[in-house]
Amino acid sequence: MNVQIMLVDSLTELPSSYRNENLFSFGKTLLIHKENEAYLYLGTDKARITMEDIRYLGGETRRQIEKWNVKYAILDSKSLINITHQMKEEEVVVCFLEGWYLAGYKFNKYKRKNVTTLEPKLKLNNKSYHDCRKLALIRSNATNIARDLCNEPANKLTPKIFVKRLKEMFQDTKVEVEIIDIHGLKEAGFHAVHAVGKGSGSLPYVALLRLNSEVGDPTALIGKGVTFDSGGINAKTGKDIGEMKMDMGGAAAVTGAVKLLADLNYQGNLLAIIPLVVNVAGKDAYLPSDVITYKNGLTVEVGNTDAEGRLILADAILHATASNAKHIIDIATLTGSIGHALGLKKAGIFCNDEDWLWGLKELGESSGDYVWPMPLVDAYQSLLESDTADLNNMSSSIYGGSITAAMFLKNFVLDDCRWIHIDMANTVRPWKEEGYYPAGASGFGVRLLAEIVQCERISDVIC
Ligand code: BES
Ligand code: MG
Ligand code: ZN
Repeated sequence: MNVQIMLVDSLTELPSSYRNENLFSFGKTLLIHKENEAYLYLGTDKARITMEDIRYLGGETRRQIEKWNVKYAILDSKSLINITHQMKEEEVVVCFLEGWYLAGYKFNKYKRKNVTTLEPKLKLNNKSYHDCRKLALIRSNATNIARDLCNEPANKLTPKIFVKRLKEMFQDTKVEVEIIDIHGLKEAGFHAVHAVGKGSGSLPYVALLRLNSEVGDPTALIGKGVTFDSGGINAKTGKDIGEMKMDMGGAAAVTGAVKLLADLNYQGNLLAIIPLVVNVAGKDAYLPSDVITYKNGLTVEVGNTDAEGRLILADAILHATASNAKHIIDIATLTGSIGHALGLKKAGIFCNDEDWLWGLKELGESSGDYVWPMPLVDAYQSLLESDTADLNNMSSSIYGGSITAAMFLKNFVLDDCRWIHIDMANTVRPWKEEGYYPAGASGFGVRLLAEIVQCERISDVIC
């Protein structure tokens, strides 16, 4: 059966018998059969339609169509463009298709009965449809790479398997993959990755991805890759601990972003640093009171083994600095506190140049990966004091946990470097299964990171 998609921005456009449907608002759908035809009415009534709204509509359309087992959906692209203001036709079509493809994502590889729903086709009639489709597929596929990695259970995605998947993914691409295993970690300066990772039977790795490494200084992307975080000796408790298989959401976002930028033929020098560990208690596990000496000489007392993310990210920041990166962007499922501060829809974003924050927030809005500016409060540095070492990885206050985690990282960043830190602990899953978000991981960060990297380069050219 084919279905014609009808955009409805006023109830009067609905068939008369349905007009009293007072629940029909933006994003709501209604499927109606008329003789041999089917129509999917889609609510579009909203004051100002954004790119993300269009993606949302694409996603809701796909979800409804899958429910009804429809094979073909037809949408007149003019009707779609008419509901937007000052958006380019191609942009609108790409957003709708991106939502459509993202909503089709399923993670069912471990189900014996792989429920294969029919893949519905969407037909739009604008002239640059094929180019738009190509771009939407590049963006959605990269996001789905991150979703796939996050959805994998902890026994199916160890650091070793993560590394193997990276090699496979970037084989035959312009992205070079270098892997450092446990024997090379200390020599390469990754002392904290070694300390945190050595407690597990699944040993730690660092993956380095390079794109156009011969062109100028690199922009560094760093992603926290804790494939499972039990808390270690400071064990986590509670029934939701299985969620901690997604403590590599930052690493997944960086992986997806590198794939996206490579597919877009990005011309700048990009270095991705992905530390991969399992944080568990064991005979070789690192202990509270341990002191870690970093490659720059800074020492850190382990106040809490569950604050492992900041420890391994610090190694990566030092590596980025040593590689001459003047732009460093890290992303991590770093603190539970960020969800307390911001809820589950917007990740926290920090930057050592505050002027950048509002622009970054805008990029979040246009990419669909929402972020909200958070402050780096110098006064809180004193909460990270240690009697034994230069720093403690655990704050002495129960307040402002996301800010103290960010302040910890700031100790490793040089002043002449623009550093952006994204705490995505609260957005690794969608806040609701709606629009283009299916069950499981959100794929947060892939599109935002790629856009930030592209902007950093534009600003370099302007300066
Ligand atoms: N991986 C967690 C943060 C997290 C919490 C991610 C909830 C996703 C959902 C991180 O390693 C952690 O354990 N952070 C501690 C830090 C504390 C011990 C200073 C936290 O947030 O409680
Ligand atoms: Mg932890
Ligand atoms: Zn963690």
